[in-house]
Amino acid sequence: MPTALITGASRGLGRAVARALARRGWSLIVDARRAADLTDAMRGLAGAVAIPGDVTDPGHRARLAEAAGRAGRLDLLVNNASRLGPSPQPPLASYPLGELGRVYDTNVFAPLALIQLLAAPLAAAAGAVVNVSSDAATEAYPGWGGYGSAKAALDQLTAVLAAEQPSLRWYAFDPGDMRTDMHQQAFPGEDISDRPEPEAVIPALLRLLDERPPSGRYRASDLAVPAVAS
Ligand SMILES: NC(=O)c1ccc[n+]([C@@H]2O[C@H](COP(=O)([O-])OP(=O)(O)OC[C@H]3O[C@@H](n4cnc5c(N)ncnc54)[C@H](OP(=O)(O)O)[C@@H]3O)[C@@H](O)[C@H]2O)c1
Repeated sequence: MPTALITGASRGLGRAVARALARRGWSLIVDARRAADLTDAMRGLAGAVAIPGDVTDPGHRARLAEAAGRAGRLDLLVNNASRLGPSPQPPLASYPLGELGRVYDTNVFAPLALIQLLAAPLAAAAGAVVNVSSDAATEAYPGWGGYGSAKAALDQLTAVLAAEQPSLRWYAFDPGDMRTDMHQQAFPGEDISDRPEPEAVIPALLRLLDERPPSGRYRASDLAVPAVAS
């Protein structure tokens, strides 16, 4: 049975990915900081091992790697957990550097640390790594310099890892706007009800996993699965 480790699986995109893979019979290792939310989100998902904790904590990451060891295989790592930074997001000229460090800890260093810890089982399974990116990694939106530059760094890590370890698949996956807590945090006080639910992105992500195109940066909109006419 294939096994995936998904960070940030208690809500939003991470939860949608966990549910989709569980429906396909995958075993899951999942985390999020708030244990009760994670337990609620995984209720009813057979084969999900929930390990609450913060991806920036080396001890927590070691527990995730131990769980992967116990599972005996790891086919997929989804680095999904992310930190937006202050809300509203400040311009770079006045961005608090301590907070910028925390954004990078969560969005850049923790994903790479997990990749380093899990390199052996991922290689043994000829597996895939999905690093969840953002259009803010490539577009220069005012106010998005902290989060966006961290996601740009994550994109570049993904590209270099693909060059260094071509036997695995390395994807920077840009889901596009989704109606989630993080998106609301990015647009405080705004009505975001016109944004799609994270579940809308799942067919694109599954297509990536099923078709295993060359490593690279993919937008969900590029992978959209055409609706079948009835
Ligand atoms: N929403 C959008 O419009 C959008 C657009 C482009 C890209 N993205 C990307 O999509 C991904 C998912 O975002 P989302 O909108 O689904 O976010 P979300 O709804 O806020 O969910 C974030 C998840 O990550 C967990 N998490 C946050 N920090 C964590 C940490 N340090 N350690 C472990 N778990 C942590 C959260 O649980 P706890 O709070 O309990 O830890 C939660 O389960 C992110 O990488 C984000 O950058 C989102």
